[in-house]
Amino acid sequence: MEKVLVIGAGGQLGVELTLALREKFGSENVIASDIREPHVLLAESGPFIQLDVMNSNAVAAVVKKESITQIYLLAAILSATGEKNPLWAWDINMKSLMNVLDICVEHKVAKLYWPSSIAVFGNTTPKDDTPQKTVIEPTTVYGISKYAGELWCQYYFEKYGLDVRSMRYPGLISWKSAPGGGTTDYAIDIYIEALKKQSYECFLSEHTYLPMMYMDDAVRATLELMDAPKESIKNRMSYNLAAMSFSPKEISEAIQKRIPEFTISYAPDFRQKIADSWPSKIDDSDARADWGWKPEYDLEKMTDVMLEMLKTVNRI
Ligand code: SER
Repeated sequence: MEKVLVIGAGGQLGVELTLALREKFGSENVIASDIREPHVLLAESGPFIQLDVMNSNAVAAVVKKESITQIYLLAAILSATGEKNPLWAWDINMKSLMNVLDICVEHKVAKLYWPSSIAVFGNTTPKDDTPQKTVIEPTTVYGISKYAGELWCQYYFEKYGLDVRSMRYPGLISWKSAPGGGTTDYAIDIYIEALKKQSYECFLSEHTYLPMMYMDDAVRATLELMDAPKESIKNRMSYNLAAMSFSPKEISEAIQKRIPEFTISYAPDFRQKIADSWPSKIDDSDARADWGWKPEYDLEKMTDVMLEMLKTVNRI
């Protein structure tokens, strides 16, 4: 029987991934944890522990007491927040990973999931159809910590045989839980503001193409990667993962088809430089070949769902 610990379960990805894991393994077998108070969707659907991943002893105690077999480490400081306090972001992103890698080895946790990001890529990486293996010179502290972390994951796999798996998420778009501190977050705010005010001022310029993914695809990809037989995981750093790419102008046009009065204006800020250093389109053929990845949502399908769900469930 699997016993799962999700660390950073209150974040944008954490909430939805925890709900999916609870569906898969049974609510009582998936412990959500976060440094913050529990998100309402987590508190009412299964066990929750308030836990600081920087406190290695506290995490180890939970792993031991609950006989944890899988950990999903989702706690992280994202790109835009990280740039405001780089050393703090580095400390949290790296120490959390090192703590958990060691705990997994010491307590024989069978599997670890740790997400990486398109932020590992920098200005010297090919922007279109960015290959799995390419020049990697990240410009943000978030990207640097993710790339260093990928190497550490591979190191723990090689040295200790730890079954650690990872993928490089594009910008994730969701309606259940709010994003926090990312450069791609505009693609969520735009839907919310379109419903509230029929207008949006975008912090990126109109032709900034970035790789994006609807949350249901991201959650499914994560479950599929973790389910794949060990021998099919040929990459122990992190898989490129893709679904769609669009610019602020294109997402605004998709919204205008459904809300004709919607208008967009542009006021790029410090996040433009971060976005400009990232790829516009990712080649994820290794993920497709090794464990069968295939996205289901494109911009049109996602726009239908986002507007519908934000309107009905979130009552915007
Ligand atoms: N969505 C993340 C960010 O913008 C990228 O992984 O920071």
